[in-house]
This record gives sequence, C-alpha cells and structure tokens, in this order.
Amino acid sequence: MSLFDALPPIEIDPIFGLAQVIQKDERSNKIDLTVGVYRDVELKTPIFDAVRLAVQLITKREKDKGYLPILGDRGFLQKSGQLLFGEKLYQEVESKLVGGSMIGGTGALSIGLGIGVRYVSRRVYLPEPTWGNHHTILSMQQGEVKTYPYYDPVNRSIDWEGMLKTFAKAPPKSLVLLHACGHNPTGVDLTKEQWKHLSSLLLEKQCIPFFDMAYLGFASSIDEDTFPIRYFAREGHEMLVAHSFSKSFGLYGERVGTLWLLTDTPHKLQLASALKKQVRSHFSNPPRHGAFIVKQILDDPDLTMLWRKELDHMRKRVDSMRALLSQKCAALDYVSKGRGLFSLLPIEKEAVMKLRDSYAIYLTERGRINIAGLTEHNIGHFTHSLKEVGIE
Ligand SMILES: Cc1ncc(COP(=O)(O)O)c(C=O)c1O
Repeated sequence: MSLFDALPPIEIDPIFGLAQVIQKDERSNKIDLTVGVYRDVELKTPIFDAVRLAVQLITKREKDKGYLPILGDRGFLQKSGQLLFGEKLYQEVESKLVGGSMIGGTGALSIGLGIGVRYVSRRVYLPEPTWGNHHTILSMQQGEVKTYPYYDPVNRSIDWEGMLKTFAKAPPKSLVLLHACGHNPTGVDLTKEQWKHLSSLLLEKQCIPFFDMAYLGFASSIDEDTFPIRYFAREGHEMLVAHSFSKSFGLYGERVGTLWLLTDTPHKLQLASALKKQVRSHFSNPPRHGAFIVKQILDDPDLTMLWRKELDHMRKRVDSMRALLSQKCAALDYVSKGRGLFSLLPIEKEAVMKLRDSYAIYLTERGRINIAGLTEHNIGHFTHSLKEVGIE
C-alpha cells in the first residue's frame, strides 16, 4: 500500500506528448503538422511587431507588478469585449455581461464550464469531433459529456441533419459547445444561414450556447469570424464565451484569455461573485503582462491597424497553403475550402504511423494537420509521402 495507489493509468497528451519525440527526430526532411500554432514561411512562430511595440510602451510606463483584481484589468476587459462583440453591440449588452480575464482560452473554458456545470446544467454537448481537451476539461469539471454529430467525413462537410436531430431532442438548459470559427480539427465552419437556423433552434429548445473562440482572424476576418457570437447575442441568447488570445495575437505562452457570461439574470452581482470564487480558488487573479499587451494594442489605433495587418497576412499564408495542397493532391481538393489552421485527412492510424516512421511527417493520430506547418519548400515532400500511403 502506498499513498497514490488509486492513480489512473498513464495518459500521454496526443499533441504535447509528441512534441519531444518530434524535437528529437533529426531527419532533415521532418515536417511537424501537429501543434496548433501559426508558423511563417521559415516555420517560425513569430512575435507580432505590434506586440513588440506594445511591450516597449508598457515597459516604459509600468511601475509595479502588483496583483490585478480577481476578474482582471477593467481596461483590458472593455477593449477585448469591444473586439469580440463590436463596439456598438458591446455597449448594448454591457449591462448583461459578466467578464473575467483568464489563463488563456483553456482557463476560460475550464472556469466557464465549472460555472456552467455547477449553476446551469451538468449536461454539455460537445461536437464530434472536437479539440480533445474539451473532453478532458469537461470531465475534470464533473460535467456529463454528450456529443452532437458535427462532421460528415464522406462529404467533408457539416453533418447538418445529424446536428439538428440531436439538438431537437436536447433537454432544456443543456449547454452546447460551439467553435465560433476555424473548427478544430476539421476546418469546416457553419455558414451564416446555418448559424441563424441553429440560433433559433437553440432558443426554441432553451439550450445554452457556449462559444469557444480560439482562432479569431484565422478563418476570415474579425467581423466574419465573430458573426455567430454577435448574431446570437443580438438574438437574445443567454450564453458563455471563452476567448483565447494565443493564436490571434501570437501570445501563446503569455496565457491571455477572457470568459464572458451574457445573461438576463437579475442576480448579476451574485453571478460575478460566484465567478470570482471560482477564480480565487483556482489562480486567485489573472496574469497581467499578456493582458496589458492586448490592451495596449487595442487602445492605440496605429497598433491595432498593424496587428490586423499582420493577422491578415498570416491568414493569407495559411489560405495559400490550403490552395497549393488542394492543387497538388486531388484527394485533398476539399482542403482549399477549409478555414483556420486545421484540416482532417482521410487517413487510417496505420498510415499516420507510416508517415512518421518512414517519411518524418508528423500529424495527430486522427489525421489532423496544421496547415501552417506547410511551406512551398516542404509541401512536395508531404504530397509525395501522402501518395506513398495511398492519398493522391
Ligand atoms: C479549439 C480550441 N479552443 C481553445 C484552445 C485553447 O487555447 P489556449 O492556448 O489559449 O489555452 C485551443 C488551443 O489549441 C483550441 O484549439
């Protein structure tokens, strides 16, 4: 008998667990398509110029490194709320919003699901497939995992009928997790018409949307990518939003995120108090540096313009790799229509392993690729190797 006899079996994270293996692989034609970070033509994950400039301004001004309030810096929350909802809508819904600065998108999901599971419903519908961590976060928050069909792998499109059928039977108050844009892992998003239809169905069924916004600006543009969140808010949904700034500002390791609770409750102060308790018990108060960088950029019109330009450039690079991949490999013609960083390949686990072992190409076991890991230089090796495992 020892203290930790009841531990669960060892689990290796399907994405971060691979990183060490990939790093040790010294083959010169290695291609890493696993972790969801943006990479430039040199396969580096750059620091935005807007971020560098913002850091200089902050460093000059900052006088202390004191704690922030439990829900974070008010200026950061206001600016990030205006970015997400748009200035006009933000003003309209501000009185119904409770927001908090979190530790990345993951922290926002975790705290948000903690609140949702405790006070709204244990039942949470996750898309199938989805980012694997959604399952982990939800089960750690004692939620009851339900899934809804999201993707039709035969037609490489949304499983619209399956989705509607599932929600038609969903009990009231169920939480429904929705990727706002750049769906991870498929890269397939709902059309505006589908979002509108889904909005009225969820209102009718009294289900509560929980948006995960992790790829703002990587699918289309700020306005297009925020469409579902803004539309649902205008239609009168009570809802939750977890917003990650990791990809859109390249602030991965700074851990910047926000959680928004949009609600009609007359007990807003009680809700804010419950949220504060959740935060206080997990990390007391949020990290400041990354949040101040975002605030600085969004406060300064020149920096905002520069940031948007840089983000546009990144999206265009990813889109051009999508187009090139489709052009070079007929079986992947659908990839050019995808959005955001990811696409799913029509591939079995055995072939994924063969790509790793024989060709130094790394993707996740389920066949997700990060398009930003491709360049004009390595795409030939990629498509040639795909051909060797039967994808051409
Ligand atoms: C769909 C999705 N949601 C949330 C996150 C979390 O982002 P963060 O790194 O800010 O915790 C990610 C990160 O990969 C993601 O893909």
